[in-house]
Amino acid sequence: MTIERQKKKSKLSFFKKIFIRWIVSMITIIISLIVLSPIFLRLYGDIILTKMFFQTWSRYYPWIDLTKPDAFRLNAVNVYEQTEPNVRIGIWYILPPIITIDHNLSTLADHLKQYVKSDDLPIIIYLHGQDGTRATRYRSNHYRMMSTFGNQIIALDYRGYGDSTGIPTVDGFAQDVIHVVNVIRQVCPQNPITLWGHSMGTGVALWAMNKLFQNHSDLKKPSGVVLEAPFYNTIQALVSYPITRILKINPYFLQAALDSLAAVKINFPNNEIISFLPLPIIIIHSEDDAVIPYHHAQLIEDYVKIHRDKNLPPVRFITVPRSANCGHNHIYSYAKFQELVSDIAFLKRLPLTKNS
Ligand SMILES: *[C@@H]1O[C@H](CO)[C@@H](O)[C@H](O)[C@H]1NC(C)=O
Ligand SMILES: *[C@@H]1O[C@H](CO)[C@@H](O)[C@H](O)[C@H]1NC(C)=O
Repeated sequence: MTIERQKKKSKLSFFKKIFIRWIVSMITIIISLIVLSPIFLRLYGDIILTKMFFQTWSRYYPWIDLTKPDAFRLNAVNVYEQTEPNVRIGIWYILPPIITIDHNLSTLADHLKQYVKSDDLPIIIYLHGQDGTRATRYRSNHYRMMSTFGNQIIALDYRGYGDSTGIPTVDGFAQDVIHVVNVIRQVCPQNPITLWGHSMGTGVALWAMNKLFQNHSDLKKPSGVVLEAPFYNTIQALVSYPITRILKINPYFLQAALDSLAAVKINFPNNEIISFLPLPIIIIHSEDDAVIPYHHAQLIEDYVKIHRDKNLPPVRFITVPRSANCGHNHIYSYAKFQELVSDIAFLKRLPLTKNS
């Protein structure tokens, strides 16, 4: 062997060594994560799971001014509501482009009084997913689309999200929603109200409904629920999470996660509530949803078939085909979205007349 060749060989083995070292350390990190994750969860599960489920830290564009929905090409006002002594939430009230907004009004109730002129006009409360704010681009796109169909939408940031104060909890979110329902009912005692939840918001919509039916018998109930990209329940959502798909190799991981979830009271029993809620429910899910896979909708369908009383209003399943490329966040861009929305009986589309 010549000296030249020997040199070349040692250079090659040098890189080979680095590469092997890198692979070994990656594998070590992943294995340690898998092995240690139950211990981390036992120690810090409350923080880890709260931050993971309620991503109030992710605002994406912190320079966005939540007080200016016009910047998102929305015909909307920004208002605030005190939902508990120490909680003030930010709300956008989005109107069809044809309605002239009176920016002199200050409260949600004032605005509702101004624009809801008939008892049969449906009002949608939009409940967003686990990250971002009421302004997040695809959400703004969704409101704009819905409002051009003639809908009025109230989009809120739950406590802890965006510029809303307070600490995120499941019961707290439901309280925020129920407060808004209350405000609407004071001004619009008869109007049909729809809760439209997306992703984690489907859990909030159902939990708020459950509370409304159990503990607020005085209020006239909403007339329907739309669940866009819903998850089956908290455990299934956790199991579908990309990182937990790896961590659950460790048989102790799931139990530790479940115990932590119970300790921080993060529980969305969506499948159960869907099976007894006495309201019409629409479920819309994309086949190419990479965040909450489509099989969640199928699991719900299977559960509902067995557990929902046949005399209750129907649960309707709508599949957005893979070819539409809507994924988890962009069902509003589906070519048949308007057709789909105008087909929802409790969202009956009203003629677009001035100030109707
Ligand atoms: C708002 O108030 C100003 C001054 O008080 C008034 O000139 C204006 O017409 C009001 N706008 C609407 C839309 O009522
Ligand atoms: C309804 O109120 C009761 C009594 O305060 C409480 O125990 C129960 O958990 C509440 N139900 C819901 C769904 O929050």
